[in-house]
Amino acid sequence: MRSSDEYTRPRASWRGSLYARTMGCLLKARCAVTLSLALSACRSSETVGTASRGLDETSANPSDTRSGTASSQTAAPDRPGFYLGREIAPTMTHEGADWLVRPEREAEENASRMLAELRLTDGMVACDVGAGNGYHSLPMAKSVGPRGKVVAVDIQPEMLTLLQKRARDVRVANVETILAEPSDPKIPAGTCDLILLADVYHELDDPAGILVHLRGALRKDGLLVLLEFRAEDASVPIKPEHKMSRAQILKELEHNGFQLVRSFDELPWQHLLFFGRRH
Ligand SMILES: C[S@@+](CC[C@H](N)C(=O)[O-])C[C@H]1O[C@@H](n2cnc3c(N)ncnc32)[C@H](O)[C@@H]1O
Repeated sequence: MRSSDEYTRPRASWRGSLYARTMGCLLKARCAVTLSLALSACRSSETVGTASRGLDETSANPSDTRSGTASSQTAAPDRPGFYLGREIAPTMTHEGADWLVRPEREAEENASRMLAELRLTDGMVACDVGAGNGYHSLPMAKSVGPRGKVVAVDIQPEMLTLLQKRARDVRVANVETILAEPSDPKIPAGTCDLILLADVYHELDDPAGILVHLRGALRKDGLLVLLEFRAEDASVPIKPEHKMSRAQILKELEHNGFQLVRSFDELPWQHLLFFGRRH
């Protein structure tokens, strides 16, 4: 079983070989994509990378007065596998799902305090994008009550099957699941009061493409919430590629039409940042 090795600092263990094998496959896939993109870049001088670049580059509206960080700068093109200078992390596979529900997670991350900070109320529709096996989805479903619901979204059907089983086991009935595509969470437009991305954003293959969809999925005044391990804090025992700095998060979200509404800075390991749409 591959688990914490995917996320935590390397330790010598029997998990290593499976991790290495799986990462090898991931790397091979990424190399294949890289190679094919490099070839198409030779054919077209317009090709700049795997990920969409985001609103600020694509907006052709001269009256656009948004105060994005990058719109007034000349952004260097990203290499494949990078977004706005950040290396995109590999996707955590369902083989590591047990690590997501490890008993010590509550103490390490103070997940119940994080949940309280979401300020979910009865009747809300809360979306958990990259829900995995539902560590956050199930408590969120209790917070929104039977009149509300949680929409749990993931690209791995195995994760959603595990989530559904966990929901049945604890008799939580107000969780719907959506099997997403890597660039499309498939959430109907204008339906979410809050969208949580818990330890997910840093591994999205197409951050800008997904953010376009998430902007559309939010209700008016809905919030997009990013929970990410703090890159600024060397004592957080998570691999660097699975961490993000606050500055990088702000850069990427502002670049894609969001603005910071509030943040909670007292979680042990993570940033918790709340964004609204910049209209
Ligand atoms: C590190 S796990 C976090 C799971 C859960 N949020 C938690 O905190 O326990 C990341 C999850 O994001 C999912 N994921 C990665 N890219 C995604 C995408 N483009 N759309 C939806 N889910 C994605 C992965 O399949 C994986 O289940």
